Amino acid sequence: MNISVKNLCLSYKDGLKERVILENTNVDIPEGSCNIIVGPSGCGKSSFLYVLSTLRNYNGGKILYDDVELNSGKLKTQMRYKNFGFIFQQHYLIPYLTVEENIRMSQNKKEKISKRSIDEILEKLNIAHLANSMPYKLSGGEKQRVAIARALIKKPEVIFADEPTASLDKDTAIDIYNMLRKVNEKSTLIMATHDTSILIGDERKMVFDNKHILADM
Ligand SMILES: Nc1ncnc2c1ncn2[C@@H]1O[C@H](COP(=O)(O)OP(=O)(O)OP(=O)(O)O)[C@@H](O)[C@H]1O
Ligand SMILES: [Mg+2]
Repeated sequence: MNISVKNLCLSYKDGLKERVILENTNVDIPEGSCNIIVGPSGCGKSSFLYVLSTLRNYNGGKILYDDVELNSGKLKTQMRYKNFGFIFQQHYLIPYLTVEENIRMSQNKKEKISKRSIDEILEKLNIAHLANSMPYKLSGGEKQRVAIARALIKKPEVIFADEPTASLDKDTAIDIYNMLRKVNEKSTLIMATHDTSILIGDERKMVFDNKHILADM
C-alpha cells in the first residue's frame, strides 16, 4: 500500500494559543519502505504516527491510502483492522492471558489464527518456549517481542511503531529492532524513535524540523 500525505496541517489548541505541529506537509510513503521518524521530544513524532494510522484527526489536507481517502469511521476501522499493525513503547499485554492468548486477541470466528502460524512467529522471535507463559514472568524484551508477534501475526501491510525500543537496554533494543525488520520484510514500517544508533543504515529518515519534515535523509 502506498500512503500519500498531501498538504497536511496538524495543530493542537492550547487554551487560546495554537501549537502547530505540521504545516502543509507533503510526503509519500511507498509500499514496503522503511521509514524512521526522528526529532526532539515534543516535535510531533507520535502525533504524526497516529494521524497516519487514522487514530487521530488532523486539521487540513488529506491522506491517501492507495489513492483512497478514508472519509468515514467505518473505512478507518476496516483499514486499521485489516491492514495495520501497532507497536507502542509499552507492550500493553493483558496480564490475565498467556502469551499465545495475547497474540490471539485480534482473531474472530471467521478468521481463526492457526496454532501453526503462532508457533512460526514465536520461533522467528526466539520465544517459542514462552507460548504458555503469563506476561508477568517475562523480561521487558520478551514482552516487547510478544507485542511484536501480536502486531504482526496477521501480516499487516503497514506497521506503525512508536518508540518500540525506548524502554529497553541497548543490546535488547538492537535485537528487537532487527526482529521487527526481519519478521515481516514485505510490510511498510513507519517508526518513531529517539535512538538512531539502533538503525541499520538502509532506512529513510524523516526528520521533523519546526512544522515541516525534511524527508529522505
Ligand atoms: N492531545 C493533545 N492536546 C494538546 N497538545 C498535545 C496533545 N498531544 C500532544 N500534544 C502536544 O503536541 C506536541 C507533540 O507531541 P508528540 O507526543 O506528538 O511529540 P513526540 O515528538 O512524539 O514527543 P516524544 O519524543 O516525547 O514522544 C507536544 O508539544 C505535545 O505537548
Ligand atoms: Mg512520542
